[in-house]
Amino acid sequence: MSAPEPERPGPDLTLGVTVDTLAEVGMLAGHVGEEAVLLARRGNEFFAIGAACTHYGGPLAEGLIVEDTVRCPWHHACFSLRTGEALRAPALGPVACWSTELRDGKVFVREKAAATPRARVAPAPAVVRKIVIVGGGAAGFAAAEMLRRQHFQGDIVMLSDDDAPPVDRPNLSKDYLAGNAPEEWIPLRADAFYSEEAIDLRLKTSVAALDVRAREVALADGSRVAYDRLLLATGAEPVRLPLPGIELPHVHTLRTLGDSRAIIAQAAAARRAVVIGASFIGLEVAASLRARGLEVHVVAPEKRPMERVLGPQMGDFVRRLHEEHGVVFHLEDTASAIDARRVTLKSGGTIDANLVVVGVGVRPRLSLAETAGLAIDRGVTVDAYLETGAPGVFAAGDIARWPDSHSGAAIRVEHWVVAQRQGQAAALNMLGAREKFDAVPFFWSQHYDVPINYVGHAEAWDEIAVDGDIAAGDCVLRYRRAGRVLAVASIHRDSDSLMAEVAMESGTAS
Ligand SMILES: Cc1cc2nc3c(=O)[nH]c(=O)nc-3n(C[C@H](O)[C@H](O)[C@H](O)COP(=O)(O)OP(=O)(O)OC[C@H]3O[C@@H](n4cnc5c(N)ncnc54)[C@H](O)[C@@H]3O)c2cc1C
Ligand code: FES
Repeated sequence: MSAPEPERPGPDLTLGVTVDTLAEVGMLAGHVGEEAVLLARRGNEFFAIGAACTHYGGPLAEGLIVEDTVRCPWHHACFSLRTGEALRAPALGPVACWSTELRDGKVFVREKAAATPRARVAPAPAVVRKIVIVGGGAAGFAAAEMLRRQHFQGDIVMLSDDDAPPVDRPNLSKDYLAGNAPEEWIPLRADAFYSEEAIDLRLKTSVAALDVRAREVALADGSRVAYDRLLLATGAEPVRLPLPGIELPHVHTLRTLGDSRAIIAQAAAARRAVVIGASFIGLEVAASLRARGLEVHVVAPEKRPMERVLGPQMGDFVRRLHEEHGVVFHLEDTASAIDARRVTLKSGGTIDANLVVVGVGVRPRLSLAETAGLAIDRGVTVDAYLETGAPGVFAAGDIARWPDSHSGAAIRVEHWVVAQRQGQAAALNMLGAREKFDAVPFFWSQHYDVPINYVGHAEAWDEIAVDGDIAAGDCVLRYRRAGRVLAVASIHRDSDSLMAEVAMESGTAS
């Protein structure tokens, strides 16, 4: 008896597909040998590229074609249909590319072509010989990767006070913490990447000061590193509550891989956890600890979780979802003290707990920029090119407040994808591209098997239009102000979320 054939998606694209199978602008998932391939049509042009997103494997055939690119349905990465290049984060690696041939009313997928990303900028000006990046997180890593993708030949030094190389931070509160993602998924790249790409990654290296006149950074050990261009990407740090007991060893915050590992180690011996804060991270931690079998209590001052960002309807849904999974909420309450065995609530009660995770928000790490005299406005003020007031000094990610062309306001957000895209834009601009950063903000959050996607930015709204059924986890919420859609949240409505993004980009969202 022969082994069963592995399941391959769709038709064998080497045998040809009738042109009419595809809409004028359409896609079809098929295969070539063992590989899943996406065949895309744009009028009379046909493209064949790898069908799985290089971020988390999202099915590109369920995404959206926009000009000669395809956007991933899960977290809105964007790939060139012509070259396979990952044009927009969160995907960073390219997908494979195949040639196509049109013959007798059929399109055939032919040879696999080498992915050849096109440099988007001219070679860097001769004065740019050394680029220093402070921060080994989302923005810092994406910048370094983009610099080499653009064939930048000069020195890249990446300074990070973390002891781990750049990691997939969003995973630290989700699958990794839940025990569903192995350790090898967590680094954004293998260690060899940094030596192969000549990126001088210095871990456990704290930058103590920045001298914009001398174009140098001073390290905590007293040494100095000179730069021609500098990217500040220092991210944010968890807010620490001034509570009795906050320093106890079973009380944790979550930002780094080390933090996530420490929570996992503590969870192994714990029966009940208290999560202080019903933030995105707090509730993702709650879900992950439930997956590990712990009893979980969430203590938070608000009436509904996530109401400030997502509104009351979604807040109620998120609460119910967690309650259905056994989480116990103590809302409109706060912790007043922690001891080795319990958390005391302001309302007077106590909750026994041998693990406490505090997730009450983060504070951008601004001290370097502040003491260097850069303009600060609840973040580092940058222009549309992500450059600070100091020539040659750029800022990106959680610390950057930039002029958002979509909302017309200067905004600062704490989103993984925004940080990565800003890192990429800053890299191009450090090389002289003068490209405005004008991406529509996007974030996602995952609770059990429910993904929440959010595009745009709405700090306040006067209407939330709900389309679909929130309770059934199949909905789109549009946050409007003065009749204009500022943001769109969705659950299991990936196409709507992508279309909303495109509409916001063109200023036609309604
Ligand atoms: C657990 C968790 C889950 C998350 N999940 C999501 C999600 O699902 N979706 C989403 O959109 N966002 C999510 N986020 C937010 C997202 O991770 C951040 O917005 C993003 O990492 C910001 O990128 P950044 O480069 O600005 O900062 P970071 O990624 O924090 O990187 C900052 C880097 O700077 C270094 N650094 C800081 N100061 C110094 C110094 N003085 N010297 C040297 N190095 C320094 C730090 O060590 C770090 O390497 C999550 C965050 C956490 C913590
Ligand atoms: S899986 Fe494609 S962007 Fe995340």
